[in-house]
Amino acid sequence: MAFNYADTPGNTDWFIHDRFGMFIHWGVYAAGGRHEWVKKYEQMTNEQYQRFFDHFDPDLYDPKVWARLAREAGMKYFVITTKHHDGCCLWDTKLTDWKVTNAPCGRDLIRPMVEAFREEGLKVGFYHSLIDWTHPHYTIDRMNPRCADEEFVKANQDRDWSKYVAFLHGCVRELLTEFGEISYLFFDYSYSKSPAEGLLKAGKGKDDWEAERLIDMIRELQPGIMINDRTEIPQDVITPEQVQLDKPLVNDEGKLIVWEACQTFSGSWGYFRDQLDWKSPEMIVKMLIDGVSKGGNMLFNVGPTGRGEFEPRAVERLQAVGKWMRVNGRSIYGCGPCDYEAPKDARFTQNADGSRIYAHMFSWPFKHLYLPKLGPVVDYAQLLNDGSELKIVSHDAIHPRLPETQQDTLILEVPVQKPPVEVPVVELFVKKQG
Ligand code: GLC
Repeated sequence: MAFNYADTPGNTDWFIHDRFGMFIHWGVYAAGGRHEWVKKYEQMTNEQYQRFFDHFDPDLYDPKVWARLAREAGMKYFVITTKHHDGCCLWDTKLTDWKVTNAPCGRDLIRPMVEAFREEGLKVGFYHSLIDWTHPHYTIDRMNPRCADEEFVKANQDRDWSKYVAFLHGCVRELLTEFGEISYLFFDYSYSKSPAEGLLKAGKGKDDWEAERLIDMIRELQPGIMINDRTEIPQDVITPEQVQLDKPLVNDEGKLIVWEACQTFSGSWGYFRDQLDWKSPEMIVKMLIDGVSKGGNMLFNVGPTGRGEFEPRAVERLQAVGKWMRVNGRSIYGCGPCDYEAPKDARFTQNADGSRIYAHMFSWPFKHLYLPKLGPVVDYAQLLNDGSELKIVSHDAIHPRLPETQQDTLILEVPVQKPPVEVPVVELFVKKQG
């Protein structure tokens, strides 16, 4: 085994193998088309926000199309926002009327999505917001969109937190009993460090969510499920957001820690019409590779429109990533950090039994590729995109007087033209022991 992860309460085997998932942020805020935090950013009242609900009519919604795009991009699981911070539920819950089935949308959006993605072979994950900007018993702290409105804060001092906790636990129970096997629960998020001030309460964390009891219930309902870290009780996976880590996460015993970076196309999670900072397919592919080389997954987000579609900017990029994954996926699935250090401008991954190393070339070298320390280790090399051999070259062929210290460098002869893929991958076969 080339890499070794620390055990957690849930089943992470499939997750470590699959590496690449689709995040979907969808809700009535798509009608605003300017971030899923629009209610908070614009300090909207419930009445003002209502117009998005009243105009949320995703008539073009076809989750089969979404699921196919995800599978063809190489994604193996998906995580859908069952409820975001605006509190509006995307499934037909019995616990509130603040659900899309009561909007012009008129239907449960989660059920057909779960079915469609399962049909394409993807595992199902649910994102669920702990935070709620609308629930009448979510006590008022700085997180509330109207926290600067003194009248509002004063008028809402009699909220009964225990009712919100019952709602939260009840929603999770519905989600884990009515949709078959759920592999991943992604809670979002705790902010207990935010201080109380005047009539505003302190932020909320694990004690407020009654997270221990919540987790016990979850494990009883879905024993193998993975749970993220944002209830404030560490569980199966650490979920950094919109960042790349600089090295693998390791515990005190030297074992790897499971993590997953969630990433966006343009900075926003929900549909944002006017945001232009879109990542290129090459950057997205490099982010995925970089994460896997450090033992992490990537959950890449799509924010569908109010009409219920992935917009062309997203489709184009998913297809480009899929084109790369189709031929290079072998360096991602079932792979993790490598025993050997990669040279500059490259990232290494290695498969689970250690028999293959994948050198991802972030820049393409002229004529020869030098891989320190791999000379005695590797006996065959090929380009992964077309399976063509890269000849191993002797040191003398380069220069007869190479210093001793470089004698164990593997030298491969490479074409002058960069292979026609976003990021070329060199597949290195490790010599069998003995
Ligand atoms: C954040 C944001 C949120 C987004 C999430 C994704 O915590 O509040 O809008 O859903 O991160 O990780």
